[in-house]
Amino acid sequence: MSLPFLEPLLSGPRIVPVLVLDSVETAVPLAQALVAGGLRTLEVTLRTPAALACVEAIAARVPDALVGLGTLTRPEHFAQARDAGARFLVSPGLTGKLAEAALATGLPYLPGIATVSEAMIAWEYGFRELKFFPAMLNGGAPALKGMAPLLPEVRFCPTGGIKAENVQEILSLPNVFALGGTWLTPAEAVKNQRWDEVHRLASQAAALSPAS
Ligand code: 3PG
Repeated sequence: MSLPFLEPLLSGPRIVPVLVLDSVETAVPLAQALVAGGLRTLEVTLRTPAALACVEAIAARVPDALVGLGTLTRPEHFAQARDAGARFLVSPGLTGKLAEAALATGLPYLPGIATVSEAMIAWEYGFRELKFFPAMLNGGAPALKGMAPLLPEVRFCPTGGIKAENVQEILSLPNVFALGGTWLTPAEAVKNQRWDEVHRLASQAAALSPAS
């Protein structure tokens, strides 16, 4: 059994803001600012108690967003994510139990890998779209280039330590279909509801990415 891919669902810039959200009241205007700036694929992280409610709110109230849930580290997170309305799923790593839970959802899933061996294990489970994490700590663009001939069927979404200045180099790699990060949503700007700043960062990032 194999899952649908995320790549065909992407439209526009291939940049995925990674969101750490404390409240639904923040989630909706933040998602609206990112979408207005041109970034519509959003990964909410399951790192806060509000994360599932935030996915639900974005799915219901920001129709132009494609919202997924990341930081899925336990098997039970997968059904919770699907029930909240997540359109894609992401984990920082992979275990056999997570693979099973992911396959049961029928949703696109990006398991995290940091090494060639881990990518090979993910491949054995049937996954072809992988999160390379933490990307910059593990070699960034040169590491992705090195994996291309070894894993020709695999496409990566690197995240972890990526900033605006790395975007073009990484997105130009043929085995990269998207990249993500938190640099688009600085904690201070979110806390103080500076949506114009988020909109500006999103627009600047969108301009760096060829449309998918
Ligand atoms: C993730 O979960 O993808 C990362 O925490 C994003 O990494 P960053 O905060 O370094 O962008």
